[in-house]
Amino acid sequence: MNLLARTAFRQVTRVATPLSTRSLSLFARSPILTHLPRAALSKTAVTLNNNWLQTRGMKTIDFGGTKEVVYERSDYPPAKLQETFKNDTLSVLGYGPQGRGQALNLRDNNLNVIIGTRKGASWDKAVSEGWIPGKTLFEINEACEKGTIIMNLLSDAAQSKLWNQIKPYLTKGKTLYFSHGFSVIYADDTGVIPPKDIDVILVAPKGSGTTVRNLFLEGRGINGSVAVYQDVSGKAKERAIALGVGVGTGYLYETTFKQEVYSDLYGERGVLMGAIQGLFLAQYEVLRAHGHSPSEAFNETVEEATQSLYPLIGANGMDWMYANCSTTAQRGALDWFRRFQKLNQPLFEELYQSVADGTETRRSLEKNSAPNYRAELEVELAEIADHEMWRTGKAVRKLRPENQ
Ligand SMILES: NC(=O)c1ccc[n+]([C@@H]2O[C@H](COP(=O)([O-])OP(=O)(O)OC[C@H]3O[C@@H](n4cnc5c(N)ncnc54)[C@H](OP(=O)(O)O)[C@@H]3O)[C@@H](O)[C@H]2O)c1
Repeated sequence: MNLLARTAFRQVTRVATPLSTRSLSLFARSPILTHLPRAALSKTAVTLNNNWLQTRGMKTIDFGGTKEVVYERSDYPPAKLQETFKNDTLSVLGYGPQGRGQALNLRDNNLNVIIGTRKGASWDKAVSEGWIPGKTLFEINEACEKGTIIMNLLSDAAQSKLWNQIKPYLTKGKTLYFSHGFSVIYADDTGVIPPKDIDVILVAPKGSGTTVRNLFLEGRGINGSVAVYQDVSGKAKERAIALGVGVGTGYLYETTFKQEVYSDLYGERGVLMGAIQGLFLAQYEVLRAHGHSPSEAFNETVEEATQSLYPLIGANGMDWMYANCSTTAQRGALDWFRRFQKLNQPLFEELYQSVADGTETRRSLEKNSAPNYRAELEVELAEIADHEMWRTGKAVRKLRPENQ
């Protein structure tokens, strides 16, 4: 397999295929950017954004035979955003990863943005990043009162818990914004039923808030989904797209609240997090049971995947990977992938049903709002961290040249 990786690497350096927007997030945490002062970063963002604007301009894109409309940032330069929201106060509730990333990007786009959060860790973080108590930083109620667009970026559990506190401020003419369809779609469980006389929109960046911020600073923009749940003003979609660009997305793909939350909950339980940990463990345990050393089992399961093959798949696709590995690896992968698919597809179907019937939501709300939530979580996380596979991973990562 090392031969496979070497062959593949040689190939990719020759073809120099452009990286997809998504795969660019691999390079998002640029050490150069994190060492620049904040003022310099803002300036950098604007300069890079302007460069980026001049080079893009796509609308309808053929995705494997299906044409979809994609909205992109070049149609929404900062001046247009400022004009669109000139009479608005954007109230970002919560200063977690999404609240922080989206609010800083809105601020760098020169929009009128304020933060609403409770006193504590988020409040302190906001102060340290230049939000001024009483001017641009408020307790949640006050921010809701001042805002014309209420951007609900509290944790999903808090959105449900604080709904009765927030709802009275959602008066006619205001807009309610989410980054997840969770609260609204599972209203039977969350209690979040927006008033009928306001616009309700969604922009869901496809990645963490840290990536939202870093890609914006690099002048790129993360992929995002955009959806409208209620359009009272007749302008909800246009404003949702503009807001999506304002918070730092580069491309916006149309969806609905329901499709967004179903695919998101399904994906993170599946290949993004749950399934991948399950597959890593299964492969590792079998290797260990057959006498392979921890380092060999880890290298052949995780290290080679994440350091060599996955970046290549991200850049070029699995079709390219299959066409550019050793014939031995190629034969084996071609013979085995259908068996893995056949075995796993029923499980994925079961997972989808569990998302669609609300089981996953109820479990999440119940577990995440339990009084002993943090203590129980720590036990579960420690179990993963203490597993031999991830302890081996720590040692293996130390040997990487960049960590020497
Ligand atoms: N993370 C992602 O990758 C991602 C991507 C796309 C969309 N989204 C969506 O974006 C939204 C925000 O996500 P996030 O990851 O940024 O959220 P988060 O880190 O879980 O929480 C965000 C904020 O919620 C506040 N909060 C939690 N419980 C509270 C309570 N009882 N009262 C008042 N404030 C409370 C936290 O304040 P304290 O610091 O005071 O606890 C924090 O400021 C969610 O709808 C999420 O699904 C997330």
